Amino acid sequence: MANKFYITTPLYYVNASPHIGHSYTNIAADTLARYMRQALGDENVWFLTGTDEHGQKIQRAAEAIGLSPQEFTDKMIPQFRGLWKALNISYNDFIRTTEKRHIACVQRSLEILFQKGDIYKDKYEGLYCTPCETFWLESQAQGMLCPDCKGALEAICETNYFFNLEIYQPWLIEYIKKRPDFIKPQSRRNEVLSFLTLNKLSPLCISRPKERLSWGIPLPFSTEHVTYVWFDALVNYISAVGEFDAQGNYKSRWWPADLHLIGKDILRQHAIYWPIMLRALNIEPPKTVFAHGWWMVEANKMSKSRGNVVNPIEMVEKFGIDVYRYFLLRDVPFGLDGNFSEEAIVKRFNGDLANDLGNLVYRTLTMIEKYYQGDIPQGAGFKNEQGRMIAKKIEDLAAESGALLTIAADFNFSLSLEKIWELVNTANKYVEEIKPWNLAKENKTEELKAFIYLLVGMIREVAKTITPFMPHTAASIIQQIGKEKIQKGNPLFPRIE
Ligand code: ME8
Ligand code: MG
Repeated sequence: MANKFYITTPLYYVNASPHIGHSYTNIAADTLARYMRQALGDENVWFLTGTDEHGQKIQRAAEAIGLSPQEFTDKMIPQFRGLWKALNISYNDFIRTTEKRHIACVQRSLEILFQKGDIYKDKYEGLYCTPCETFWLESQAQGMLCPDCKGALEAICETNYFFNLEIYQPWLIEYIKKRPDFIKPQSRRNEVLSFLTLNKLSPLCISRPKERLSWGIPLPFSTEHVTYVWFDALVNYISAVGEFDAQGNYKSRWWPADLHLIGKDILRQHAIYWPIMLRALNIEPPKTVFAHGWWMVEANKMSKSRGNVVNPIEMVEKFGIDVYRYFLLRDVPFGLDGNFSEEAIVKRFNGDLANDLGNLVYRTLTMIEKYYQGDIPQGAGFKNEQGRMIAKKIEDLAAESGALLTIAADFNFSLSLEKIWELVNTANKYVEEIKPWNLAKENKTEELKAFIYLLVGMIREVAKTITPFMPHTAASIIQQIGKEKIQKGNPLFPRIE
């Protein structure tokens, strides 16, 4: 295992409040960051998130309520930071694309590419989608509609600066072919490879004339243009963790990123533009770009432009942080699309959380209270075969659930949780089978002790392995049952009727 882990999320547009989709990426990233901190130590993990604040749609959103773009973005930021706090997102750094450190790095990158001759001036005619801040070819546009968000495209004709992507295309194809882990999951890798082998990359327009859009990073080599928002935003991944020296060599403790976690909507920018930008800057590409699926509402992608969003804060207030985190990561295999509904949360709540985990912890606490006045029995588990089998399951759980949180397993949060719940269910079945109340009645004190000892061992291991997913729940289990004496509280997950 590498000795450091640098993980990033997309920088979210601040034109509207964050919704469930945004919270999904950050919860997944947070879970991985917490997991890797357990493995590598806090000081070897860097978790970056932030906000994307330039561009046409931010400028329009600001105009619509009569604020300057800077006032508008400043006003939006607390919503993002607030949500991440409410969801227990343990980021190490939050970068805004309006910060000086970022602007300086974008301008330096542009200068380097301009001096190398990778960027040139030309006239542009084409179609543009403002909600996606993306150019489309005539051939890609469906009528005059954006192939992604189905919004109306605008025809644009103006003088701009262009980045010649095509000269790097053969390199990129080879690079992807040689590295099965560069774009994940495999279906996305295939998608990118077939796009690259079937199409010639057109030059990327990296500027906007100030008269059309003034809210952007000024181009260092033109007083009439600002930087295209995607060229600006992608650079955050390097501007946040390092800088260029006088010779134009990029230096960073953290780069290359180990994982860019994104949704599949922005795969093209991350798997094509970004590695080419880095290559041109003589910087190593990230190790992995992983594109997860979409949360849908009745067959449509949940999105601000469609107006079908659910507010994550409402879900947290209704169900609790950890229930919400658990649901998002458990209900849908990472990489696939999922349907969001409150009924589905309630089902997970009453089943996996109340009936299985909550019940296990509560009944164990009750037995320790009743049989041992709250002192947790010490000693050893059953020496019989079943006892040894359970001891082995406890011993193996961390490795088995952890192996599913790796690139090789496509970060399968759902299966990893399923593994942990196997132990929860084994424990509950074990209680039904051994019937400790009978052991107590029959005064089989040694057996009762050995049984409770194993049960506590199972619960502690479950608490340890769910920590990255459900930090509060894990801490509260450990508080109740982690030491020599229990501290019984209320049931963790009282059933919802
Ligand atoms: O694209 N399901 O920002 P954005 C799952 N600023 N995830 C979703 C989702 C959904 N329905 N909707 C959004 C941008 N997401 C650019 C990124 S990066 C240098 C610049 C998540 O506010 C998912 O991670 O549109 C998706 O990729 C991201 O939010 C897009 O956020
Ligand atoms: Mg979007």
